[in-house]
Amino acid sequence: MGKVIAMAGKGGTGKTTLAALVIRYLQKKGRRPILAVDADPSSNLVDALGLTVNKSLGSAREDFFETKGNLPPGMTKETYLEMKLHEILVESPGLDLLVMGRPEGPGCYCYANNILRRHLDLLIKNYPFVVMDNEAGMEHLSRRTTQGVDYLLFLSDYSLKGIRTVGKIRELIDELNLSVKEKHLVVDRAPNGLDPIFSREVENLGLPLLGAIPEDGFITELEMRGKPLLELPDESPAVQAVDRMMGKMIKA
Ligand SMILES: Nc1ncnc2c1ncn2[C@@H]1O[C@H](COP(=O)(O)OP(=O)(O)O)[C@@H](O)[C@H]1O
Ligand SMILES: [Mg+2]
Repeated sequence: MGKVIAMAGKGGTGKTTLAALVIRYLQKKGRRPILAVDADPSSNLVDALGLTVNKSLGSAREDFFETKGNLPPGMTKETYLEMKLHEILVESPGLDLLVMGRPEGPGCYCYANNILRRHLDLLIKNYPFVVMDNEAGMEHLSRRTTQGVDYLLFLSDYSLKGIRTVGKIRELIDELNLSVKEKHLVVDRAPNGLDPIFSREVENLGLPLLGAIPEDGFITELEMRGKPLLELPDESPAVQAVDRMMGKMIKA
């Protein structure tokens, strides 16, 4: 069964960037096919991967409600939802993408959600690696799949406040009772040597520091030109930092 790598952290800390760089690493290592899951409603993983998406899981659920039970002849609600899930899956060579979309509004969506969750669980099992970009507290993900997470990467910026925020997000995630095998901390936009005061705060947090990503002009440049992060060159310092982290983290 596949390994799930998920990102957590406040907005702007580098989750989408790290998700794209992890995917770049896995692609380069030939660990395909990869399933990318965009579970952050305000995310841009799609752009970072250079893919185009027209429908999200949220819209599949809305389509289902709009049928008001008038399904094509011979089709059950379950097969309809399963078909919709496969319809929204964006396929590209070695990399598929699923976009969760906006969370549902008020009302009971339990029936559709339960079916979608079951099929998403099944879908995830088809991939050796699943990379999930999440919103800060991962509530979205926990409602969408019962699948556990193998590697949960907490992102922080290079500040004491950032590390304390990771502590709060970790508490929120702990309350979700999601099964998580390993938790790691990643600091984005960090200088070469970490200040001892910062390192002490990391120690207090009690999450192992997997590594630090430097500020990288290649990222700024690609973003400015509207190009996907998967096009980062091998000499990009951020790529090299993430490659080292992944080499350390994924042993098998
Ligand atoms: N190491 C880095 N060097 C340069 N720019 C970065 C770096 N990490 C992130 N960024 C930029 O910072 C912004 C926020 O990063 P992003 O990955 O979108 O954060 P999040 O997904 O957590 O909201 C983006 O514009 C991204 O391109
Ligand atoms: Mg993001």
